[in-house]
Amino acid sequence: LLMHTFVLTLPFGCLTLILKRGVRDEPPLIQGWLPFVGKALEFRRDAHGFLKQQKKKFGDVFTVRIAGRFMTFIMDPLSYPTIIKQGRQLDFHAFSDKMASVVFGYTPIRDMCLPGFRDDIFRSFKLLHGDNLAPLTESMMANLMLVFRQDHLSERLREGATFLTLYGRTQDAGRHSGMDSLREDLVKFDKRFPLLTANVPIGLLREAKTSREKLISYFLPHRMSCWSNMSQFIRRRQELLNHDSVMTDMDKAAHHFAMLWASVANTIPTCFWALYHLLSQPEALQAVQQEVHDILNLSKVEFSSDRDVVLSREQLDKLLYLGTAINESLRLSSASMNIRVAQEDFSLRLDGERSVGVRKDDIVILYPQSLHMDPEIYDQPQTFRFDRFVQDGMEKTDFYKDGQKLKYYLMPFGSGASMCPGRHFAINEIKQFLCLLLLYFKLELEEGQARATLDPSRAGLGILSPSTDVRFRYRLRAI
Ligand code: HEM
Repeated sequence: LLMHTFVLTLPFGCLTLILKRGVRDEPPLIQGWLPFVGKALEFRRDAHGFLKQQKKKFGDVFTVRIAGRFMTFIMDPLSYPTIIKQGRQLDFHAFSDKMASVVFGYTPIRDMCLPGFRDDIFRSFKLLHGDNLAPLTESMMANLMLVFRQDHLSERLREGATFLTLYGRTQDAGRHSGMDSLREDLVKFDKRFPLLTANVPIGLLREAKTSREKLISYFLPHRMSCWSNMSQFIRRRQELLNHDSVMTDMDKAAHHFAMLWASVANTIPTCFWALYHLLSQPEALQAVQQEVHDILNLSKVEFSSDRDVVLSREQLDKLLYLGTAINESLRLSSASMNIRVAQEDFSLRLDGERSVGVRKDDIVILYPQSLHMDPEIYDQPQTFRFDRFVQDGMEKTDFYKDGQKLKYYLMPFGSGASMCPGRHFAINEIKQFLCLLLLYFKLELEEGQARATLDPSRAGLGILSPSTDVRFRYRLRAI
């Protein structure tokens, strides 16, 4: 996150210094000769390549000085389970609260006197999974059909089903006016998201500032009070945000806006990549399409264009090939960092007997893209294989490194304390969306385009977008 700032302030490269910081068992320290810039530029240019190179030179654990902070990267996935268990000394929430408050424009929770608030928010995440997933999935299906019928099937393109599922419809059970401008503002804001996470003041990003103001005001309490059919999850968050009357209306609205962003920012590029890969491989598309038809026929739902498609949570669970094609798309496009801040000087246990010294306030990072692209774990890691995660008609879960089975082999949703609470909902809605696209439309990639590549500008921040636009052709199927 911090790297981007320094790309702006000092746009030139630096030499490498390898030092130890003098404390026992500390990992090798890699920094540029300009101490405050460190290795920011190289990381920003190609995070995955940079880390791969450092691993080759210095081994599985090394500290990189980036933007004045010491960041210890753990590159051996066999150490992940031990690291993830050491949650007491490695905090996630203070860091994310600070960063999110800057990006989304609310007062940091830490600065408000709200005892127990964070724990309550954490508990509210339960409303996104378990038994609560069924009503969310059902509601998502209905909203997708509403959006499809009103926009796509009448050949106009818009979106909003996730928004409607979480935040509800208008009082007359319809769609919100101003949805188009909400989407446009979200796109403008999101474009500047990497700069905001790098602490670039929003005052310098005029368009993002205006968009953020509009997005926040969309969620002001007097507007939300007119919405019906809100998910239990958002209702619970409203209760928590209203509790104690400490928060201003703007703060409450900014928290809701942050949740909207979290619920769509990674899901949309994942939908893109899954569709792109499926359309690029006829045998993958064929297998998934067949599976979708089988599941619908099995449950005796005849598909016709004027009847809503219903895919229950159980049916979605049975879509093995679609699920694994999505996982494979996530593997290829995910570049999130799992960031923890050391709460004290301590000895960080790795696997087996090994440990390294870490100092208070050092940042410890897992960078799962390195594991996702490791040829020892995934044969030909750059290649999309829709059935890579299938074995004997079931989901494959055994992947190996150095002959040992990995506990963590696919981590697009983070890990441990900061693991994405919306992950099950996300997978279900992506499946629902792709099913509808495949059922209603004949789709293909426009010919003559170069292969889509990942835009590295969001390295560390989630699912990467394609670096250029990709053109699809679509036509309503004759049914
Ligand atoms: C493909 C889709 C998604 C991906 C890849 C994804 C990925 C992630 C990751 C990597 C994190 C952890 C961030 C960190 O460690 O700093 C996270 C956190 C989070 N995600 Fe997701 N996410 C997705 C969809 C969703 C959806 C649909 C929702 C809500 C409905 C959601 C809600 C959240 C929330 C609330 C957090 C913060 C959790 C906390 O503060 O402890 N995500 N997500």
